[in-house]
Amino acid sequence: METAWMDKIERVVISADEIARRVRDLGREIAADYRGGAGRDPRRRPLLVVGILKGAMPFMADLIRALDLAIEYDFMAVSSYGNGTSPGEVRILKDLDCAIGGRDVLLVEDIVDTGHTLHHLLAGLSARGPATLRVCTLLDKPHRREVEVTVDYVGFVLPENLFVVGYGLDYAEVYRNLPFVAILKPECIRDG
Ligand code: PRP
Repeated sequence: METAWMDKIERVVISADEIARRVRDLGREIAADYRGGAGRDPRRRPLLVVGILKGAMPFMADLIRALDLAIEYDFMAVSSYGNGTSPGEVRILKDLDCAIGGRDVLLVEDIVDTGHTLHHLLAGLSARGPATLRVCTLLDKPHRREVEVTVDYVGFVLPENLFVVGYGLDYAEVYRNLPFVAILKPECIRDG
């Protein structure tokens, strides 16, 4: 592939085809879980899929189109303070537009790393009384976890401590639009 950023890429870790296949499978699995089975009241409002900006955007866009299911969607934006005194404390920059009491809610993330972001989000959203609250992430780095969080649907587990970009994941806000997940060449990553 000849594109302007290819010379910055060390290696593609997950190809666009692999992502597409996994997203299709996740879509089938999630739709089956919410499609009125398991005692779900058919009068309940549609599943609310919530993307966590900015990283989740490409994954979310593909995932919702893989759901053969009536859904609504919304976004939240959060920022992590990430300092020593309050590790991973999360500030909500954009909240949901609607109440979620009694609703089925599925959070969509691009990556779960230490777990702090998700932990804070889940605590805050649980307090609003959703009927169910689940999490789907494209990537999981379980070996990096600092707080325990339940992730219900995982696209790919990253086997090593890789710093990856693409398909929503950035380095200094760039590379989010790569159609695959990749590692940058070391000379493209500045310390600090
Ligand atoms: C990333 C990712 C998660 C969070 C995971 O967001 O989208 O929200 O980090 O990290 P954690 O498990 O260690 O808390 P980031 O803060 O990079 O923002 P972005 O999505 O806008 O890139």
